[in-house]
Amino acid sequence: MIPAAGSGKRMGAGFNKLFLKLGEKPIFIHTLEAFQQDPNCREIILAVKNEEKHEIEAYLHQFEITKVTQMVEGGSERQYSVDACLSAYKGDGVVLVHDAARPFIRRAVIHALVQEAAVSGAAIVGVKAKDTMKLAPKGIVQETVNRDHLWIVQTPQAFRAEVLRKASTQAKADQFLGTDESMLVERIEYPVKMVEGTYDNVKMTTQEDLAIGEILLKRVQQEEEV
Ligand code: C5P
Repeated sequence: MIPAAGSGKRMGAGFNKLFLKLGEKPIFIHTLEAFQQDPNCREIILAVKNEEKHEIEAYLHQFEITKVTQMVEGGSERQYSVDACLSAYKGDGVVLVHDAARPFIRRAVIHALVQEAAVSGAAIVGVKAKDTMKLAPKGIVQETVNRDHLWIVQTPQAFRAEVLRKASTQAKADQFLGTDESMLVERIEYPVKMVEGTYDNVKMTTQEDLAIGEILLKRVQQEEEV
C-alpha cells in the first residue's frame, strides 16, 4: 500500500513533489520499481489524488509498472490515504505501507521486514539514532535520552492485515490521527518489532533531500553496474 496523495508543500514545487524527477524518472516511479522488481510483492495499491490519476497512470504505463492492481482516492491526511488502501485490500496476507516519497528502499530490508511481520504480526523499519538525543520541551533541556533505545522510524511498516485492520478501526472510532501506522497498532497494545534499515532510505521532503537523492541515485546506479 503506497500513499502518494500528498501535496508536498515543504518541497515548494507548487505541485505534488512525487512528480519531481530523480535522474530520468519521477520520485514515485523509483519507489514503485523497488516493489515491481521484488518477486515477493504480489500487488500494489496506490492512493492518489483524483486529479492526478491520469498522469500517474501514464507514468505507470511508460515505466512498465504492472503490479498496481488498484488506485484509490487518497484523503486529506496520510492516514486517510492509507485507510483507503486498506479498505481496498481484501486479502489476509502481510501488508506493507510505504511512503511513495522514499525511493531508496532496499530489497534486503523489505525481506527482513516481511519475515519479521509474518512471524510477529507487526514490524517497522528504522535506524538507530547517531547523534546525542535530548528531550527539551520549550527549548530547555530536560534530559539526555539513552540513545541505545532510540530509533528513527521510516517506512515500510508491515503488518498482518488483521492487525492493521483492527488498529485502524479503533483509531477511527477514537478519531485518532497518527503520523505512522505503528502508532495505531501501538494503541491497541499489539507489540511492534523494530527491523534495522539503512540511513539512505530518506523521505524526499525538502529541496535538500532532492539534492541528496541525486547523489544516492548515482551510488545505487554504480552498485548495480558492479
Ligand atoms: O508529506 P509526507 O512526505 O510526510 O507524506 C508521506 C507520504 O504520504 C507521501 O508519499 C505522500 O504522497 C503521502 N500522503 C498521502 N496523503 C496525504 C498526505 C501524504 O498519500 N494526505
